[in-house]
Amino acid sequence: MTPTVHVIGHPLVQHKLTLMRKKQTSTKSFRALLEEISMLLAYEVTRDLPLCTEDIETPLAPMKAPVIAGKKIVIVSILRAGNGILDGMLHILPSARVGHIGLYRDPKTLQAVEYYYKVPEDLHERDVMLVDPMLATGNSAVAAVTRLKKSKPKSIRFACLLAAPEGIETLRAHHPDVHVFTAAVDERLNDHGYILPGLGDAGDRLFGTR
Ligand code: URA
Repeated sequence: MTPTVHVIGHPLVQHKLTLMRKKQTSTKSFRALLEEISMLLAYEVTRDLPLCTEDIETPLAPMKAPVIAGKKIVIVSILRAGNGILDGMLHILPSARVGHIGLYRDPKTLQAVEYYYKVPEDLHERDVMLVDPMLATGNSAVAAVTRLKKSKPKSIRFACLLAAPEGIETLRAHHPDVHVFTAAVDERLNDHGYILPGLGDAGDRLFGTR
């Protein structure tokens, strides 16, 4: 495995992921679990954010207290399944700025096609956390990172639930500077670009569309 991939082996993450994989898990439970697991992912992805100190006063004494340095992080969701992760992460990063990238996979070529892009204007002053539950072929992730880099953000991290080795390799080949945070690396892709064993179509399971 490449050194830029961080597998989050925390027991809570692994347990919740197993519940999400089960085919009998309801839309309601899947949605709640994605929200919970995303909070835990955000905790790991932000582990190395730099701190600075601020002068504050407690009820008893003044002190220099640590706060996260710099401008607020930007969470960028790859529509539509990325919104499930976004909702969870916003619980522990409530002041984060938010961007959206709309990409769909051409079912024949499996290439990413962009249909929407809206991010904060001052991206060049911010760190980005790009989120999508599934890093499958890697084509959407590559397209999203390529697009974001035009705005020159300070850094880009990619957070997902599941990654396929093929997707990791594609993203690494195009953007070796992007660290990937995932709950698991699965076996491989099937002929339709789905992750095996995976959890099925994350968007359909999240929104109950199939
Ligand atoms: N997108 C999904 O939702 N699931 C996969 O397995 C691959 C891509």
